[in-house]
Amino acid sequence: PSRKFFVVGNWKMNGQKQNLGELIGTLNTAKVPADTEVVRQKLDPKTAVAAQNCYKVTNGDFTGEISPGMIKDCGATWVVLGHSERRHVFEESDELIGHKVAHALSEGLGVIACIGEKLDEREAGITEKVVFQQTKVIADNVKDWSKAVLAYEPMWAIGTGKTATPQQAQEVHEKFRGWLESNVSEALAQSTGIIYGGSVTGATYKELASQPDVDGFLVGGASLKPKKKNDYINRC
Ligand code: G3H
Repeated sequence: PSRKFFVVGNWKMNGQKQNLGELIGTLNTAKVPADTEVVRQKLDPKTAVAAQNCYKVTNGDFTGEISPGMIKDCGATWVVLGHSERRHVFEESDELIGHKVAHALSEGLGVIACIGEKLDEREAGITEKVVFQQTKVIADNVKDWSKAVLAYEPMWAIGTGKTATPQQAQEVHEKFRGWLESNVSEALAQSTGIIYGGSVTGATYKELASQPDVDGFLVGGASLKPKKKNDYINRC
């Protein structure tokens, strides 16, 4: 497939200039395979930077929000939208996220659009229903998907140390790609990166990366630890 392995470190609301310097140094000197695309924050200008959120319109009276235009003005080229913390801590609806994704793409930003089920939803056997519905609302709003990457992040795996098994991740990614094929297009299903997030660590990334439909990672907590220099980006 034409998909490029894609790795994002999401520092969330962590760190200050001083202690982030070590992380930046580590990442700036890491060897990145030529076929891997890496989105990082606050790094050497040669690498892409992503914002963690943005609003759904160009400008106006929306105190506390930032626009895709402001993100681009700061030199960033990507934005993470629909993260489960936005959905569940800040109560953002599927509809709002759909509008944000559409607007950010129309403004020329790349979008890492996150989807994922809660533990009770998985236990109730409705994982697919939930992630397909989240994606449908995005699909209903978006015309051009070429700059979107989808991040499957089961909420029960985020920050818990309980990584999805490679089989669990592959199962959802594969079904998800099938959904894209049936509901958007075969070409899009083949070209769209579907990355996994949720307690990815140096101990778990290799087997996850070996799954055919796992196209990269969205790494939270472990991306704040500089010790594992080339982990997450060396596909096995
Ligand atoms: O954006 C990253 C995800 O929320 C995963 O976070 O790696 O700390 O579980 P985590």
